[in-house]
Amino acid sequence: MGAELNALREQLLVHVREQGGATDALVADALRTVPRHIFLPDLPPAAAYRDEAIVTKRDEDGQPTSSSSQPTIMAIMLDQLGAARGQRVLEIGAGTGFNAALLKHIVGPKGKVVSLDLDAEIVERAEENLAAAGCEGIKVLNADGALGHPGKAPYDRIIATVGVWDLAPAWHEQLGPQGRLVVPLDLRGVQRSVCFERVGDHWTSVSARPCGFMRMRGALAGPERNYLLDKQTRLVLSLPEARDVDAAAVLEALDAPEVEIRTGVTPERFELFDGFALWLAIREPRWFSLSEMDSGTRLRNAPQRSQDTVATSGILDDYGLATLSAEKGELTVTGAERTAEELAAHVVEWDEAGRPGSAGLRIDAYPAGTPTDEVAGGIVIDKKCVRLVLSWS
Ligand SMILES: C[S@@+](CC[C@H](N)C(=O)[O-])C[C@H]1O[C@@H](n2cnc3c(N)ncnc32)[C@H](O)[C@@H]1O
Repeated sequence: MGAELNALREQLLVHVREQGGATDALVADALRTVPRHIFLPDLPPAAAYRDEAIVTKRDEDGQPTSSSSQPTIMAIMLDQLGAARGQRVLEIGAGTGFNAALLKHIVGPKGKVVSLDLDAEIVERAEENLAAAGCEGIKVLNADGALGHPGKAPYDRIIATVGVWDLAPAWHEQLGPQGRLVVPLDLRGVQRSVCFERVGDHWTSVSARPCGFMRMRGALAGPERNYLLDKQTRLVLSLPEARDVDAAAVLEALDAPEVEIRTGVTPERFELFDGFALWLAIREPRWFSLSEMDSGTRLRNAPQRSQDTVATSGILDDYGLATLSAEKGELTVTGAERTAEELAAHVVEWDEAGRPGSAGLRIDAYPAGTPTDEVAGGIVIDKKCVRLVLSWS
């Protein structure tokens, strides 16, 4: 069994590298060595070596509150982090403890890892998993990551493995010189894993990669903008801002579209995930995303698919709703006439602009309230603690 699991781990590493992760030799060695199945004790061991996120806890509505993230995105984020031997790392979102174990493998015996989780039961389970895997020298604490952990600061690296809506001042204070922060950051409802470095009193990004993490709870939780429209199929509507949603009217509009517009645009799946969702989110205040479990009931033709959900995006306004679907790869818009025409126009504009995604995206984060004439030019997104400015090189 041991040799079989080693081989599966090696195969997973090959797959992760094909997907563009684990380019850093230390990250690759950690994935090759740390036994993920020990951190997922409820799963048949071999199932832990699929490139899949595994939900380990849900709330009363069935929404995930903890998981072991998908190995490829974990590896991509660890590459972005670029941690080295002997460094001190703070992780926010201990979950199963697997990523903390990878981090410890990377920083080695002289390095230090502190991992925080808001959920006391999750902390207990992470400690059990780390002990079962024989990982020593990792401190797992039950605390809100928004406050960091000043006791062991300064850190060389800080990483959040939970979706953050804002950048906590504590992370700025607790990061040492030449430090790096990697976080799945909310950009009006879409996430990018952003690697930041500090420049004076602000942050500037060095890389941004698409990702999708469950959102952070606690002191720095963003506004609740997810609405469960159908409990049975787990149809969830996500909006860039919190607002009143008439679930029955949304379902009715989805079930009875007025028009169908074929756009003639046939993007690859990654272009859609990385490109169009971001395009719409930062340009269109009325945008939304919808996701549904398995292969979908209402969203059968949704253009985005991941292991156990399908997803789409669209526009919702007083004139109705329009959503995107894919017919043999071609993006098609269905919904209320006027809204559908506007959504189709966005698709064509994005296509004509060369289908931009997060390549070349730069994000600067200034303290909230910094006057506009003191920030770099670009698209501004205001949070409670920071003012983000997005620009493309
Ligand atoms: C996707 S899981 C983390 C996966 C984990 N790194 C692993 O390797 O298994 C996200 C975790 O973040 C935790 N979390 C949510 N809000 C938090 C907060 N404010 N501070 C610390 N942890 C938080 C959740 O309880 C959950 O366990």
